Amino acid sequence: MVLTLIPIGIVMAERAEANIWGELTDTLYAWHKAIGFSVLLLMVVRIGIKLRMTAPAYPDTLPRALQIAAKALHHSIYVLLVLVPLLGWAGVTAFPALITLGGYDLPAMPFIPQDSDLAAQLFGIHGTLAIVLTVLLIGHIGAAFQHMFKKDGIFRRMG
Ligand code: HEM
Repeated sequence: MVLTLIPIGIVMAERAEANIWGELTDTLYAWHKAIGFSVLLLMVVRIGIKLRMTAPAYPDTLPRALQIAAKALHHSIYVLLVLVPLLGWAGVTAFPALITLGGYDLPAMPFIPQDSDLAAQLFGIHGTLAIVLTVLLIGHIGAAFQHMFKKDGIFRRMG
């Protein structure tokens, strides 16, 4: 979902910047908001599951430094998977532009005032952190593939 949200987000923001409005731009925004908000809801479920389950221990063969790096990477991905959609939601609440697929509105985020300057700032941080998230995800996917080819048991641990 995130890998879909990135190109949609960049294209729609560029169209808005170039003042290209119309059905395609609206559709891209509507899908971006709907998929992005779904990521937020899925993260609530995911964190709920994660808190009830313990992940299997890393094999002793994995150096301690790599275990710490892996944990730091995973925690950062979790934080950003919550923060990035929250910032997007806060931005559309401040703008306000809550309309999404099928003409349905997202709920407004509580305590966020309608303020176009605030919306611009929130969208700026949203876009930057989304790029950081993408870099971390690419690193994560790359590391997962490396372990798959090495057959060191780490890839199977993910399942
Ligand atoms: C994991 C979830 C999300 C990711 C990875 C993501 C990613 C992105 C990216 C890469 C951009 C383009 C930034 C730019 O080029 O300036 C963007 C823009 C945008 N996103 Fe998201 N997004 C997510 C969730 C959301 C959510 C939940 C909403 C609202 C409900 C949202 C609303 C927006 C809006 C309105 C823009 C355009 C901002 C502008 O026009 O400057 N996003 N997003």
